[in-house]
Amino acid sequence: MVEFALPANSVVQTGKTFPAPSGATRVKAFKLYRYNPDTGDNPRLDTFMIDLDDCGPMVLDALLKIKNEIDSTVTFRRSCREGICGSCAMNIDGTNTLACLKPIEDIQGDVKIYPLPHMPVVKDLVPDLTQPYAQLASIKPWLETHSSPPPDAERLQSVEERDKLDGLWECILCFCCQTSCPSYWWNGDRYLGPAVLLQAARWINDSRDETTGERLDALEDPFKLYRCHTIMNCTSTCPKGLNPAKAIAGIKDKITERRY
Ligand code: SF4
Ligand code: SF4
Ligand code: FES
Repeated sequence: MVEFALPANSVVQTGKTFPAPSGATRVKAFKLYRYNPDTGDNPRLDTFMIDLDDCGPMVLDALLKIKNEIDSTVTFRRSCREGICGSCAMNIDGTNTLACLKPIEDIQGDVKIYPLPHMPVVKDLVPDLTQPYAQLASIKPWLETHSSPPPDAERLQSVEERDKLDGLWECILCFCCQTSCPSYWWNGDRYLGPAVLLQAARWINDSRDETTGERLDALEDPFKLYRCHTIMNCTSTCPKGLNPAKAIAGIKDKITERRY
């Protein structure tokens, strides 16, 4: 897996250490990025010594244990606990991934946990996703049609047409890929990024959508699409095994094809 730069927002200081309970024999250190912009203090790394014999197997289990039993102010997002909602995306052991799908036993040494990189931090492990969500809205992630639907049936697809959506519809919008992309780090205000472009491909490839031309017109832009330089960090990090780089290449191919 690709290792990423840590959040650029600063000097991270050493914080507090919370010791393991007495008698614990299988102890692992969890080092958590802590930052509260309201205080004006620099970020810090707090260390929580966790007894693995009294903790679930995933990194999210350890975070919930820390929040429930040691420090209720630790802040992170989570919901489904099974890799579906995309909420618990964070940088664990140097890689963007989902805390609920990351086994603790896969991590050698201390477990270092940071928010998704190169995003403003709301608090602790919660990144501000306002920009990528606005970019997602800009590609109109819904079915657009000009014609009326059949009076007594849904808009149908053949099996072959439906197959073209595989590898796209499964995206859970965790933004692990988006925040692993160097082009997005440097040009995130203008480059749409791999998660948003994979979503754009999901609608461009939908046989029922009647605005493919408009969608391609909107993406034919040196920054929105062509800042992708096929570095492939996005594909390496996707916790759902998707391939945003391939989806982006597919959009470029469609734009090229219609020129000739
Ligand atoms: S392939 Fe494109 S989108 Fe993916 S990390 Fe590289 S530049 Fe970013
Ligand atoms: S493509 Fe993968 S990494 Fe990117 S947002 Fe979707 S599920 Fe997350
Ligand atoms: S909690 Fe939903 S993906 Fe991890």
